[in-house]
Amino acid sequence: MTNEINKKRIVSGMRPTGKLHLGHYFGVLKNWVNLQNEFESFFFIADWHALTTKYNQTEDMKQNVEDVLLDWLASGIDPNKSTIYLQSLVPETAQLHIYLSMITPQNWVERDPTLKDLAKIMKDKQENISNLSYGLFGYPVLMSADIMLFNSNYVPVGIDQVAHVELTRDIARRFNNIYNVELFNESQPKLTQIPLLKGLDGNKMGKSFNNDIKISDTAEITEKKFKTAITDRNRMRRDDKGNPDNCEVVFDYWKIFGTDDEINEICKGCKSASIGCADCKKRLIAKMNEYMAPIREKRNELQKQPSLLKDIIYEGSKKARIEAQKTLSEVEKAVKMYK
Ligand code: TRP
Ligand code: SF4
Repeated sequence: MTNEINKKRIVSGMRPTGKLHLGHYFGVLKNWVNLQNEFESFFFIADWHALTTKYNQTEDMKQNVEDVLLDWLASGIDPNKSTIYLQSLVPETAQLHIYLSMITPQNWVERDPTLKDLAKIMKDKQENISNLSYGLFGYPVLMSADIMLFNSNYVPVGIDQVAHVELTRDIARRFNNIYNVELFNESQPKLTQIPLLKGLDGNKMGKSFNNDIKISDTAEITEKKFKTAITDRNRMRRDDKGNPDNCEVVFDYWKIFGTDDEINEICKGCKSASIGCADCKKRLIAKMNEYMAPIREKRNELQKQPSLLKDIIYEGSKKARIEAQKTLSEVEKAVKMYK
C-alpha cells in the first residue's frame, strides 16, 4: 500500500466546453493518467470557470460536464486513484475565493497575461471592455482558490497557465504574511513535455476551428476527417517526391502513432515517392483507429451508465470536500473569523 501521506499533491482542472480532442488526450490527459500513480491527484471539471465567459450559454452545461467526464474516464483517469470532482459541488472553492479576493491587490490581477489577451480580443472585436465581467476579471483568483484549496505542491498545466500558478504563489505568500501563518505552500507548475498536436489544417487544434479529431469520434469519422489533413504542399502529383519535414500534420501524427520502424519506412517511401499521400494517410488512419479503439469502446460503455457517472462525480466531490473543509477551517482560524 502506498501511503497517501507521503505523496505530493497535484491539482488540475479543465473547463467543460464540450467533447475533448486528441490534442487534449496527448497533451494533457495521458500526462494526468501517469501522474495519478505518483501523486495524490485532484482533477476537477471547472464549471464555474466556464461561466466566466459562457454565463449566457448554459444550455449545454450538463452535457458538457458529462462529456468531459466520459473523455477523462475513457482515457484512464481512474476514480480509485484520483479524486475527480465538479468545482461547483465543492462550494469551499467559492468560500476560499472570497478570502483570497480580499487580500489580492487589483493590479496583480490586471497584470495577468490571459486577461490582457482577452482585453485585446474584445478591443479588436470593438466590444466594450466593461463587458468583461467582475467574475471573468477575478478568474485568476478563482484559479488560485482551486489550487490552494488542496495546498497543492504541483499544478500540471500548459505554458499558457504558468502565470496563474505564479500569481497563486504570490497570493499564498501574502496570505501567510498577513495572517502570520505557514498555511500555504508554494505550488509549482508542472509543464507537460509532449508537443501539441496540430489541427488538420496545420493550425492549433481547437473545436472552434473545425480542425480537430475528437476522442469520441468513430473510426469512420476519424477517417473522413483525416483525409482532409494537409500534406507536403510541394508534393502535387503522385510521382512527386515528398519531404516529411514539410508535412507537419501527417508526419507529426505518424511520430505519435507509429513505431520507429514504421516512421523510417514512411520517411523513405515519401522521399522516394514509393508511397503516395493517400496510402500514407490510409495506413496512419488505421493505426490511429486501432490505438483509439479501446478508449472509444470504454467511453461508449460508460455512456450507457448515467447513474454511474453521477455517482463518480458526487463521490469524488464528497471526497474533495473533506480535504477542502480542512483547509477552509484553517483559513478561517487564521483570519480570526467568528466560529
Ligand atoms: N484556467 C485553466 C484553463 O483554462 C483551467 C483551470 C481552472 C485550472 N482552475 C485550475 C488548471 C486550477 C489548473 C489548476 O485551462
Ligand atoms: Fe506527408 Fe505521407 Fe504524403 Fe509524405 S507521403 S507528404 S509524409 S502524407
